[in-house]
Amino acid sequence: MSERAATASQPSSDERSPLAAALRQERKKLELVTEVGAALSSTTDLDQLLRLLIDKVTELMDADRSTLYLLSEDGRELWSKVVQGRDTLAIRLQVGEGIAGWVAQSGEVVNIADAYRDTRFQPAVDLRSGYRTRSILCVPMRNRAGAVVGVVQVLNKRAPELAESKSDDESLTMTLFSPFSPEDEDLLLALASQTAVVIDNSKLYLSVLAKNAELAHTTAQLAARSHELNVLYEVEKELSAATDLDGSLSRILGRTVELLGAEAGSIALLTAAGDALELRTVQGPAAARLKDVRVALGQGLLGWSVARREPVIANQVDGDPRYAREFARDHGVAARSLMAAPVVDGDRVVGGIEILDKHDGEFDEDDLRLLVLVAGQVGQALSLARSRDESRDQDRLASIGRLMAGVLHDLKTPMTVISGYAQLMASCDDSAQREKFVEHILRQFDVMSGMTREVLAFARGDRDLMVRRVYMHKFIDEAVTQLRQAFAGRPIAIEVELGYDGVTHFDETKMLRVLHNLARNSADAMEHGGQFWVRTRIEGQELVLETADDGPGIPAALRGRLFELFASGRRGGTGLGLAIVKKIVDDHGGTIAYDSGPGGTTFTIRLPHRGSRTGEFSPIR
Ligand SMILES: Nc1ncnc2c1ncn2[C@@H]1O[C@H](COP(=O)(O)OP(=O)(O)OP(=O)(O)O)[C@@H](O)[C@H]1O
Ligand SMILES: [Mg+2]
Repeated sequence: MSERAATASQPSSDERSPLAAALRQERKKLELVTEVGAALSSTTDLDQLLRLLIDKVTELMDADRSTLYLLSEDGRELWSKVVQGRDTLAIRLQVGEGIAGWVAQSGEVVNIADAYRDTRFQPAVDLRSGYRTRSILCVPMRNRAGAVVGVVQVLNKRAPELAESKSDDESLTMTLFSPFSPEDEDLLLALASQTAVVIDNSKLYLSVLAKNAELAHTTAQLAARSHELNVLYEVEKELSAATDLDGSLSRILGRTVELLGAEAGSIALLTAAGDALELRTVQGPAAARLKDVRVALGQGLLGWSVARREPVIANQVDGDPRYAREFARDHGVAARSLMAAPVVDGDRVVGGIEILDKHDGEFDEDDLRLLVLVAGQVGQALSLARSRDESRDQDRLASIGRLMAGVLHDLKTPMTVISGYAQLMASCDDSAQREKFVEHILRQFDVMSGMTREVLAFARGDRDLMVRRVYMHKFIDEAVTQLRQAFAGRPIAIEVELGYDGVTHFDETKMLRVLHNLARNSADAMEHGGQFWVRTRIEGQELVLETADDGPGIPAALRGRLFELFASGRRGGTGLGLAIVKKIVDDHGGTIAYDSGPGGTTFTIRLPHRGSRTGEFSPIR
């Protein structure tokens, strides 16, 4: 309706005045409702929105003041979210208590002209605030699902004529009130349910926000955990990859410095006297200068951490009295920030680890926690190395026992050879021939002293082979001569098939023992004599050494464990021979296999070959 339309019928001034007033009133309402609608759709701050809403509602209803109550989560209490009017007291009501409480409980509208005549009304708030409540309009706020989420209450509707004149006469003190109309009820209900929807949405919005924040927090925590796990995994990997202690420590430290985004670091171990720390592994620009340098226990932050058995962070070492300023100056280093943690093996502090100068920002508690975990790994590496040393010593002692048994076993060969030559010498008149026998005997003594050296070298932990250049034809010649001697008195023929007679590389003494063991086994198996072959050839990159006999074959019971210690199939046998053979072949990086049946047994040894042919095939008899 436009103003021109309203004035067109020219009513009398008596009629016109209330009509015009009503029209103005309606237009104002429309404006207010539009404003409320705009506010509802644009404001995201719920508190601000509700305040604005209550102001507009008060104005729309021509009321004196309004209150918006929200229902608590558990649906038991009403909280005055926005109290509007001169005195703003926060009100808290039980559901069912007072008019608002009744509305929240029943979900019905209350519209009363005089509050004091209604038994549900509680004058206590009036008494406290000095306010005089007369008319009340109170409606529930229902959300989309129809549930009550709060209550809007408007008080004291102004009489129309007063509402009109109020703006002209602000000094008016005596106010007359009228009851709220059914239109007021409808309008307020509509606004209340709009508000309920907004509140619901904002709750949703807030819970999404909260969930997002929670998610972000969890993600950050997960990222920290995964970083932590990653560091530990990397450290563990380094640990298992390294075979010696210094290797382990330097790998652990390197990984830790890198993963913590730091510049340098060191791992120090307590000296035997326990009064100083020795920098065993150092990473960073000053590593070369600092390696093996000693720090008195208690000196510097690392010394402090080890002495106190406490991890420490110092992000500004400058201001820290514990920082080893002189040490840093003497060694030409300067740290900005530092973290240190003690290293413990079992229940003993054995050293410490420190990480210096984080590239970006400061070391934080997470970094320190990681360092403590890494310190635990270092402790483990140390204790592992200790127990490895201990068990290596024990192993070595046990192995010496085994080796002794092996050597005693193999001494049989030179002793048989010596006694054979000694017997020959006794019945030999030719001095030149005797000279030769002496040479043979002396060579056997060399073999025996070689075995003694082997035991001693092993006792020192030195297992190296004496790999040398070998001329195959000389080697086989020597071996066959010795074998003939060892077989002396037995009807065993030896045949050599020298497919390769050139240069190769292996430990001559040890390979001789191999041949002796294989030959002796053949001889033992061929009680009534037989044929024994020694063959050599090259296959690809391998030197093949083969022995064969036409004996009865290896007992079936031994197959599969032939090379094991103490696997023996003959009376008087100890079962060491083939275990020794296998060990020597393994040490050369070679393989041994056998083929056996009633017609005989063949052992095939393959060794990595390095050498050149020195001549044409020249059979040795
Ligand atoms: N060429 C062979 N023919 C038949 N049996 C064999 C042959 N070589 C080995 N064996 C069987 O394998 C067993 C194990 O041999 P090995 O040399 O390890 O121990 P051993 O000869 O019994 O004792 P020793 O420690 O004195 O050598 C022998 O006892 C024998 O039964
Ligand atoms: Mg044997």
